[in-house]
Amino acid sequence: MKRNILLIGSGGREHTLAWKITQSDQCGELFVCPGNAGTSSIATNIDLDINNIDGLVTFCNKNNIKLIVVGPEQPLVDGIQNKINEHPNGTDILIVGPDQHGAQLEGSKAFAKKFMQKYNIPTADYKEFNQESRQEGINFIEKQNLPIVLKADGLAAGKGVLILEDREEAKKEFNNLLDGKFGAASQKVVIESFLKGIEFSVFVLTDGINYKILPIAKDYKRIGKGDTGLNTGGMGSISPVSFVTEALMNQVEKEIIKPTIKGIVTEKMNYKGFIFIGLILTEEGPQVIEYNCRMGDPETQSVVPRIQNDIIDLFVSLGDGSLIGHEIEIDARTAATVVLVSGGYPEAYTKGKKITNTENIKDSLVFHAGTVLRNNELLTNGGRVLAVTTLSESQSDALALSFKNARQIVFEGRYFRDDIGFDL
Ligand code: AMP
Ligand code: GLY
Repeated sequence: MKRNILLIGSGGREHTLAWKITQSDQCGELFVCPGNAGTSSIATNIDLDINNIDGLVTFCNKNNIKLIVVGPEQPLVDGIQNKINEHPNGTDILIVGPDQHGAQLEGSKAFAKKFMQKYNIPTADYKEFNQESRQEGINFIEKQNLPIVLKADGLAAGKGVLILEDREEAKKEFNNLLDGKFGAASQKVVIESFLKGIEFSVFVLTDGINYKILPIAKDYKRIGKGDTGLNTGGMGSISPVSFVTEALMNQVEKEIIKPTIKGIVTEKMNYKGFIFIGLILTEEGPQVIEYNCRMGDPETQSVVPRIQNDIIDLFVSLGDGSLIGHEIEIDARTAATVVLVSGGYPEAYTKGKKITNTENIKDSLVFHAGTVLRNNELLTNGGRVLAVTTLSESQSDALALSFKNARQIVFEGRYFRDDIGFDL
């Protein structure tokens, strides 16, 4: 049976998902909203207002779409799943992505911390503060060990976490947050203990009761070599992660994944979608840094090419209770992803630079993020522009080929980190 699908998002994650979806025999027409130049080459880009639920449902009905895959977190946190399924003509549309309640695991740090505490999931000790408890927060900072970790409660475009080495600076930033540095997102602030260790990411697909573990990955968040400098959306990723042994994954499953699913069931979240668990391997074992209610970007670019299953089968199984019967088949090779960004990113950068040579890359996958086609010319249209992913038996070969091919692609100001995987 052919299925028409709507995929929401415009980044490298969405191009990768679109690429995987179109490999399925079941793929009918795939629409990507709004998409990028990469998705337009394999699917139909469509500019819909995703806040107009009536318009969205009408579009789905007109195009016989019964499956919507939501890439980014914002629409999920805004309740797109509930709104579509509560619409009289949208009740039978399967949304890959949790309801608003489930999306709070990403949308509110305080909610996620409470959840973890309730279900005994290892995470940093914390306290939450608001306007009324501002002075208690200042007193708390006085007593906290350095560095001090401050987190805006809500979504803040990846900028809501501050790690401060100086107590006075921490107090100042804490006040800035409560004074509205991130608007409503920082009306509540979580202060937590700093955890020391190496980070990795676990991805889980769940129908809200059962779950399947997807390939693990590690991303590289900082702009500079050796993971230094400003935070970005992500400069590269690798999957699998050499230091994550089977024993460690068993521990993660027992201490983190199972209790998370138990919490989802007990709290009656309607959660059909991805859970992305950001973990840190401390001396006391793995602990949760954060939950995300979606796939990661650029982790998806390394994780999804390693999944050998028909991804539409997996998505459909979330709706009909058949997830439990699926085994996730994983390509044993290593996937290494290098992200090409615009000069200046993550600070100010210029768009509209001509990109050449993507079509000559034969031994890597090229996923688009901030790209646009104008008069048949491929142009940069964002900070993160493209991702080059290579699959190889050896991690060093996968990385070397990704670096080589990243070098082949040319646009003015192009920058990428040529040390992705340096610590593995
Ligand atoms: P988040 O926005 O929650 O992903 O946090 C961004 C980054 O801040 C994480 O990837 C970690 O590198 C770092 N981080 C967050 N919380 C902690 C913590 N408690 N201890 C150490 N590092 C942290
Ligand atoms: N790469 C981190 C994220 O997608 O949140």
